[in-house]
Amino acid sequence: MIHLRSKQVIVALDFDSYDQAMSVCNNLDPEKFRLKVGKQLYSAEGPKILDRFHQLGFEVFLDLKFHDIPNTVYKALKNVFALGVWMTNIHLLGGTEMIQAAKEAQLASDKENLLIGVTVLTSLKDSHLKEIGITKDTNSLVSELSLLAKKASLDGVVCSVHEVRKLKKNFGLDFLTVTPGIRIQQEKGDQTRVASLEMAIEENTDYIVLGREISQAENISKMINKLESYII
Ligand code: C5P
Repeated sequence: MIHLRSKQVIVALDFDSYDQAMSVCNNLDPEKFRLKVGKQLYSAEGPKILDRFHQLGFEVFLDLKFHDIPNTVYKALKNVFALGVWMTNIHLLGGTEMIQAAKEAQLASDKENLLIGVTVLTSLKDSHLKEIGITKDTNSLVSELSLLAKKASLDGVVCSVHEVRKLKKNFGLDFLTVTPGIRIQQEKGDQTRVASLEMAIEENTDYIVLGREISQAENISKMINKLESYII
């Protein structure tokens, strides 16, 4: 039997407009689900869309994966934290100074928020890393990047379900793991390091990101009802 905690599932709103996103949000209870706004929707609608979701009572993970020079990331994140998002992220490949700059922006914020680091995208596997000159395997690279996140006191990382157990063992249960690449009925698509919902729960991940499993479901409200039935 699958058991989910309230708000453990973060629904990725990968749409081109607020109206399209509302076709999913209209079925969601903000007491049970959180939202993820990524590059697609944010680029179309801009920061104001966050206010609209906040007014509806949702907590939002702004997934823009910042990766730039430290000064730029610091200034961009100061703006992001002022938007009142529940969680946001940077890409850990930006290196220690960039990670620390992001942390400073979080510390300078007067709002409560979580800052996490993307390790290795769930769309990538070892052969993709080789192509870009990285000889480490995905698992080792995820561990090394997570160590940088831990050292900079980030709240946790984005990784695949396959890496959660090791990260929790090395960095503690309170080091948050956010895991995309979960598949229930849909095809893998561009994702490679995928896992089932059952495995995500068994591996004790903190947050489960579901995108196409909901947005591309044959019957969106039926899929959401099914997920709700797992919440205890
Ligand atoms: O549709 P699917 O469930 O594969 O969507 C996963 C979502 O998680 C997308 O919005 C994608 O941008 C995001 N994501 C990811 N891998 C990461 C970080 C974020 O797939 N490492």
